[in-house]
Amino acid sequence: FILEMEVEQINKGKYEHYMQKEIHEQPESLGTTRRGRLIRGGSCKAKSVMLGGIKDHLKTVRCSRRIVFIGCGTSYNAALAARPILEELSGPNLQEDTAVFVSQSGETADTLQALEYALENGALCVGITNTVGSAIARNTHCGVHINAGAEIGVASTKAYTSQIIVMAMLALAIADDTISKQPRREAIIDGLFDFPNKVRESLLVFGRGYNYATALEGALKVIEVALMHSEGILAGEMRHGPLAFVDGSLYLLLLLPLMMLASVGNPTTSRSQRSFDCDVFKRGCCICLSQWVVLQVDCLQPVINVIPLQLLAYHPTGLRGLNVDQPRNLAKSVTTQ
Ligand code: AGP
Repeated sequence: FILEMEVEQINKGKYEHYMQKEIHEQPESLGTTRRGRLIRGGSCKAKSVMLGGIKDHLKTVRCSRRIVFIGCGTSYNAALAARPILEELSGPNLQEDTAVFVSQSGETADTLQALEYALENGALCVGITNTVGSAIARNTHCGVHINAGAEIGVASTKAYTSQIIVMAMLALAIADDTISKQPRREAIIDGLFDFPNKVRESLLVFGRGYNYATALEGALKVIEVALMHSEGILAGEMRHGPLAFVDGSLYLLLLLPLMMLASVGNPTTSRSQRSFDCDVFKRGCCICLSQWVVLQVDCLQPVINVIPLQLLAYHPTGLRGLNVDQPRNLAKSVTTQ
């Protein structure tokens, strides 16, 4: 049965490219990431999260002096996206470090080198990978499998969103015994129960807010597959340098939170956010995309918001006749330094 599942995952089915298939698989892959790990709670039992792979080590994680996340490329961006919720929910730090290794393949050489260092220095090492039996899965003390299914396209898509979900669940598990965080935890768990359906609704929807990581990850996808220069920039940073680069030939993609409109081409029809400088609207060729699928739980919003950016990278790549699944110079995992 497992073999059949794997073969099915490796086929492109009705899709032209693996990247396209993997973007569209996200409602299912996120469901699998979540499956069996959320506990609804009865009348006397609070809602909670059960991460079997780390449950015996949770006490140590909770007592850590610091929790350090290690990852490269998309996995780094996923850790960045999950950082605020981990900072918000994790309690006081007491003892040694916990090092969390985030890697789709579980084989990235730089991440493995950091693992070696962390092991030598006595940190509790936790792996978050998509590959059972990978070097990171084997050599960490404990871990969580993201269960996103095989990801074959070089550009990481469904692994990114599943990694964020697993890190949010990790934050929930760490805060499990903190009474003051209970209402917030329960709201996030409700959001997780709701989640894959929201993803299905959201394929053309954008947002911002928790989403600096979304901008970085969207820019990385465009560079990687469409081979166009692209940068993710914090809106507030515009005037501190990047604005100098803006002229009529530059495309700007603005991620606007909580605005119930999407305007393409004519920035004057959109209400700009104060954080976006008016000069930017006048000088660049703008695409403003705002989210209309608004999750009640802010920390899960980046998972929804990145999907249109993945599609935005995917479509021009095909039109330019480039290889979407195997971009030039890149390998699926970087196993040498
Ligand atoms: C992104 O689309 C890339 N394929 C790349 O940045 C990747 O995320 C990075 O090389 C890390 O890979 P890993 O998650 O397998 O460790």
